[in-house]
Amino acid sequence: MDALTNPTPDCGTGFATPEARWARLGPYYAMFPIRFAQDAVDRFTEPGDVVLDPFCGRGTAPYAAMVAGRDAVACEINPVAWVYAATKTAPASDPDAVKDRIGDIAKAAKPKDREPESQFQQLAFCPKVLGFLNAARRELRWRDGTTDRTVAALILQYLHSKVPQGLSNQMRHCRAMAPEYCVRWWNENGYETPPEVDPISFLNARVDWRYRKGIPERSHSRGVTVTLGDSATDLVEPPAPARLVVTSPPYSGVTDYGVDSWLRLWAIGEGPALPKWDTRHKHVGLAKYRTMLERVFAATAARAHPDAAWLVRCDARERTLDVVLPILSDIAGEREVEVSPAPFSRPTQTSLYGDRADKPGEIDLLVRPTTATVAAHRGVAAA
Ligand SMILES: C[S@@+](CC[C@H](N)C(=O)[O-])C[C@H]1O[C@@H](n2cnc3c(N)ncnc32)[C@H](O)[C@@H]1O
Repeated sequence: MDALTNPTPDCGTGFATPEARWARLGPYYAMFPIRFAQDAVDRFTEPGDVVLDPFCGRGTAPYAAMVAGRDAVACEINPVAWVYAATKTAPASDPDAVKDRIGDIAKAAKPKDREPESQFQQLAFCPKVLGFLNAARRELRWRDGTTDRTVAALILQYLHSKVPQGLSNQMRHCRAMAPEYCVRWWNENGYETPPEVDPISFLNARVDWRYRKGIPERSHSRGVTVTLGDSATDLVEPPAPARLVVTSPPYSGVTDYGVDSWLRLWAIGEGPALPKWDTRHKHVGLAKYRTMLERVFAATAARAHPDAAWLVRCDARERTLDVVLPILSDIAGEREVEVSPAPFSRPTQTSLYGDRADKPGEIDLLVRPTTATVAAHRGVAAA
């Protein structure tokens, strides 16, 4: 099944189609390119097959599966990433309902919501935006419904960015830096007051843009499930064993990306106003990392066809690769694990922050289905 037997809508570039436009939702640290997931779906599955990603981040793999008419089971532990993933696979159908909800949130803001709790908040957001964000934290039921989740996803998308592209004072888009760093940087670089932004007109304009081409034709597919939780325990049973596992595990020492997304976690009521860098966000030591990966990969293998294709993009550094490779080799059994470098084609996120150290990049680990399984499965799929 190596040929592009079932080409899917290209989400790789531009914003011309709903599939391409919604594919980009969700700035997130350490995501893989949509084209990587789409190629894997095209190469290793047939329409109706199940694709599995136990570390789905902002939902790139389940989204690629969905637009190609495949089913998907995915899971993500970080609520920010989950909001993106769940929204892009099932956005609210009615943009007017999204705009109405934005208006409701603005009306629910109380005078106290506009008062900054810290110097960081005072410099980061104007009072109108801060009032809106505090009301959104209280009011939005993003776990329960698509309209509230879509509003939450749009708030997260634009929460911090370059002025005037977001709701905040000048900030990085993907990753929130430490509050003290931001305050110092704003003071030293002439950003002593946050920009005046009206959150209703700002967000309504983004709703109009996001929905201008519609929503992906195959969104809301009942065959696509994205769970918020720990894949070791919360991966749901797919309708059939998965034919493709495509995933990228957290790097050793990073874990749930909570540090990078502390401000976004706050904005959806999942974190404090100033970050607490606790060890929940890290695997302390290799043994803990290994145990987590073993448990997640065992739960994944139990939901996959015994001869499924596995494509795992992982950090090339030994402290991650030396853990991932033996676990995957066990799952592969008699099959070979093909190892190929996937060097960064663009500056890495960390190099953008001044870390110019030579990066070993990432590695793709591929376990192919056996030829007999491919032939038998193609025969069934074609019949
Ligand atoms: C490298 S990122 C994956 C990014 C994803 N490929 C994308 O395109 O957005 C790894 C993800 O695994 C998540 N994660 C870590 N431990 C997890 C667990 N036990 N269960 C589910 N997700 C987990 C992290 O929060 C992080 O979002």
